[in-house]
Amino acid sequence: MSTGDESAPSPEQPGRPRRRKRYAGTHPRRFDERYKELQPGKYPDMHEHIRAQGRTPAGTHVPVLMAESLKVLRPVAGEVVADCTLGFAGHAREFLKRIQPGGRLIGLDCDGVQLERARARLAEMSGAYSLHRTKFAGLPKVLEREQVRGVDIVFADLGVSSMQIDDPARGLSYKHDGPLDMRLDDRAGRTAADWLARASGGELAGALREFADEPDAEVIAEAVVARRRREALATTGQLVDLVLAAKGLTRRNWRLAGDSHPAARTFQALRILVNDELGALAELLRVAPNCLNPGGRIGIISFHSGEDRLVKRAFSAGREGGLYRDVSDDVVRPSAGERRDNPRSGSARLRWAVRAGSPE
Ligand SMILES: C[S@@+](CC[C@H](N)C(=O)[O-])C[C@H]1O[C@@H](n2cnc3c(N)ncnc32)[C@H](O)[C@@H]1O
Repeated sequence: MSTGDESAPSPEQPGRPRRRKRYAGTHPRRFDERYKELQPGKYPDMHEHIRAQGRTPAGTHVPVLMAESLKVLRPVAGEVVADCTLGFAGHAREFLKRIQPGGRLIGLDCDGVQLERARARLAEMSGAYSLHRTKFAGLPKVLEREQVRGVDIVFADLGVSSMQIDDPARGLSYKHDGPLDMRLDDRAGRTAADWLARASGGELAGALREFADEPDAEVIAEAVVARRRREALATTGQLVDLVLAAKGLTRRNWRLAGDSHPAARTFQALRILVNDELGALAELLRVAPNCLNPGGRIGIISFHSGEDRLVKRAFSAGREGGLYRDVSDDVVRPSAGERRDNPRSGSARLRWAVRAGSPE
């Protein structure tokens, strides 16, 4: 009979010392076993140690362009802020502090896990806020439900959080083996595996080119189509191997081919495709001016040229059409210090605009 307690002495060998609880191998597969910083009781200084090395501790997210966002968006007491991409509430917490007393934060995220993490972090703070699990294109409906006529700030920090990337179960990273899911909102929609099983070669090659400037788009798309005739692609590891093979590389020698991982662009393109990220951004840019009070500010942080182009065009068209009275001429980029401390901020760029009309 098993006692279910590994440390209890074995009933068959009463004289033997207690067995130590075993470590789950040299390459633990579970997310919570993989990173020491996820065990603060055992490794109390690990979080600071990792930050000091310019890395993001697993299970957290370091907000980007924080000082710059606050500088251009200027949240002040009594204002209403819509943070359309709550994530780990890094920006949201700073907005909430600055709009007290009397202000209100409305937070959106389509990922239920992120929303609950943000809720837990915001619970430590004072101030009024409400959180909604929805895609950010749904902002007008949220405001209607909340009976808010307009907000003073609309903010979006696009893409994914480090916590989503680092969790193998989300299938977002070429670094961890996991299911090829990639959906930020897992309530509906096709997974990356579904896309790879059904999309035409032309559609795949187009996405790789358009969403990630992948130079080997055609070869990778052909490899996907050939592979699925034999067997479906189900895991991130299988996709990494396919991309490496298509590029004539292996897991051992790919570093010789360049700095970035050969599968990074494929993963980025698929994530954008699966979550229709450009469609969602275009819709947010379309509805945002109607959600802003006169004199209200909008700030968008994007991470690749496709997103930035959409933001730039929408803001310029808004200025020409009289919706915005002022827009950023140049992108705001992270300082050298931020890029060193948080390399994931490297591609971030912020643009802002101010709604026409004077505040009442
Ligand atoms: C880069 S993270 C935001 C991080 C956050 N600013 C912080 O400091 O913790 C982006 C977040 O936006 C969410 N997201 C991405 N696309 C979305 C969409 N269309 N609608 C709502 N949320 C979205 C993701 O789930 C993710 O949590």
